[in-house]
This record gives sequence, C-alpha cells and structure tokens, in this order.
Amino acid sequence: MNALLCHAFGPIAELRLQQVPDPEPGPGQVVVAVRACSLNFPDALIVQGLYQVKPALPFSPGAEFAGVVERVGEGVDTLRPGDAVLAFAGHGGLAERCAVDAARLLRLPAGMDFAQGAAFLLTYGTALHALRTVAALQPGQNVLVLGAAGGVGLAAVEVAKAMGARVIAAASSAERLRLAAEHGADDGIDYATQDLRRSVLGLTAGRGADVVVDPVGGAFSESALRATAWRGAFLVVGFAAGDIPRLPLNLVLLQERRVLGVYWGDALQREPQRHHADVEQLVRWFAEGRLRPPITERVGLAEARDAIERMAARRVMGKVVVEIAP
Ligand SMILES: NC(=O)c1ccc[n+]([C@@H]2O[C@H](COP(=O)([O-])OP(=O)(O)OC[C@H]3O[C@@H](n4cnc5c(N)ncnc54)[C@H](OP(=O)(O)O)[C@@H]3O)[C@@H](O)[C@H]2O)c1
Repeated sequence: MNALLCHAFGPIAELRLQQVPDPEPGPGQVVVAVRACSLNFPDALIVQGLYQVKPALPFSPGAEFAGVVERVGEGVDTLRPGDAVLAFAGHGGLAERCAVDAARLLRLPAGMDFAQGAAFLLTYGTALHALRTVAALQPGQNVLVLGAAGGVGLAAVEVAKAMGARVIAAASSAERLRLAAEHGADDGIDYATQDLRRSVLGLTAGRGADVVVDPVGGAFSESALRATAWRGAFLVVGFAAGDIPRLPLNLVLLQERRVLGVYWGDALQREPQRHHADVEQLVRWFAEGRLRPPITERVGLAEARDAIERMAARRVMGKVVVEIAP
C-alpha cells in the first residue's frame, strides 16, 4: 500500500510517500481502509518530534480518519468487514490502510460522509470537553475564541453556539473572520490590526470574556487573559504560534480568573464514560445541523506533505481533508 512515512523526527519536507506492506490486525485491532484523513496541527508537531507523543519510527502521521473495516483481529466482535467507521488513532491515517485498536473506532454516524467523519472527532471533541467539562460554560455567557478560523477554533465557535453562548471570534484576517461568522460567530476581532483586549472589553460593555479558548499561545495569550472577566475561565488549549507564553500571575489574582489546562487526548482515556457522552452529544448536534465540519480543501495523499507544511506555516483555514480512493 501507499503511505506517507516519517523515518526520522525532523523537517516536514522529509516525509516520503512510499510503498509498504499492508498492516496486519493485532489482537483487539482492526485494519481500516482509509478513505479520508483530516489534518490537525499535532500532525505537523508529531513528525518534527515536537509533540508530547513520539511514535516508534517509521510511522505515518494522520491522527484522525474515516474508512471501511477490512479485517478484524482476534477478540474483536463489535465490528465486521464492511463497517464504515471513524477513528482517532493519534497517527497512522495518512496511508491506504491503518491497523488501529477497535476501542478507538466509532461507527460512522448516519448522514456523515467519510470526509466529514475524518474532520469530526478531534476538534469537536476537544471543543466540547474544554467548554463543558473544563470551563462549565453556561448559556448566555461570552466566549472569546482565538485562532477562530482554525480547526479547533471553528469547532469551539460552533460548540459554544450550540451551548447557547455568545461568541467573539478573533483571527488574523478579514477572510478568516468571515469563515468564523459563517460558522456562527456573533462578533469578530482582527487581532492583526485591532487591539485584542480593548476590542473584547468594547464588545462586552467592559465585562470581558467569561471563557477564553486559546489554541494559539504566543503574544495574544496575555492580551486575552487581560480581557477575561471576573472569575472567567482562560482555557490553555495549544500553542500553534510556537511560543509557550509565560503569564503574570497578578492577572489571575486581580479578577479571580481561572487558568485551566485542556488535554482531550488524555481526558478521553482517563474518563471514557464522559467521552462517550460527549460523542453522543456531538453526533446529536451534527444530526440537527448545528455542527458542520469546516472542510475547506480536499487533496490526495501525494499532496498531503505540502498541506501539512502549509498548515504549520499558518496558510490554511478550517480543515484540510486528504482523500484516498478505494
Ligand atoms: N489541548 C488539546 O487537547 C488539543 C487538542 C487538539 C489540538 N490542540 C492544539 O490546538 C492548536 C490548534 O490546533 P488546530 O488543529 O486547530 O490548528 P490549525 O487549524 O492550524 O489552527 C491554528 C490557528 O492558530 C493561528 N496561528 C497563529 N500563529 C500561528 C503560526 N505561527 N502557525 C500556525 N498557526 C498560527 C492561526 O490563526 P490566525 O492566523 O487567525 O491567528 C491558525 O488558524 C495546536 O497547538 C494543537 O496542538 C490541543
């Protein structure tokens, strides 16, 4: 089969599309014929050795994908060849086939195609976990989303709206803010040209944001923390800008703000019941048309490396999906 392979942690440009033997399903595993794999920022980090998880080499990146079960391993009785599924596997999706633990698979929900299925679990799962479990977001509260036209950002916009919040999107261009508005954002701040803190205070009558979703990090985090309301929650989700910011703790003391970490990949293993309840909620919202996976580009496996490079260089919006013909 064809697979995009990482042979050594290093530049994304060194990923190679190669022929490799088909994977075998181990005990408790299934082999999925991948039809679509979406890109997430961690795919760019994992191949450079910059992610908290470092798979054994060589490996294919591609954390989440959808496809068809081809073979099942010993002890798997919940799935059969031919079943359409989606998976959060962590890596391995940028290949024609992937062997994955059956526990990491979900049947493709009704009405969801492979591309949508590949662009569903990681970003919406992170957004719901962050806003419901970690921040306890209430209807009517203000949510500020940084990087609001990115994968996690757009998911946070839609999930916050589905939870009854008012959403302020912050992003680096008018085009990105238009996309966030199409996905439900009530207001937008272009943080490339506008002062983030002052704009948030202006849009909230001086109150500030009750919840901040920050998947970006870098210089905007401190401005966003300064724009967080009294006892508001600042959610540390990621550092797409590259810099892990250091925040002055007096900003936390002064308004009794809460700075809260979000680690969806770990939380779903520690609290599987809660994860299943989140997935059920997300599937219901999808069926009701409240969640619309923001697929902005479809490319083939041969273009996947270039797409990962563009994502790492801030040159994509929404979700890029790599489609693999059967
Ligand atoms: N904690 C968790 O459980 C969890 C789960 C999933 C993902 N994450 C993390 O969340 C972050 C976002 O992931 P994603 O898949 O949503 O990424 P993405 O789709 O690439 O979006 C990231 C956004 O960050 C902004 N950005 C600012 N500076 C950037 C730079 N130098 N390079 C790239 N983007 C930059 C961009 O928006 P503007 O141009 O508008 O600023 C971009 O849209 C990543 O750090 C990822 O590791 C965390």
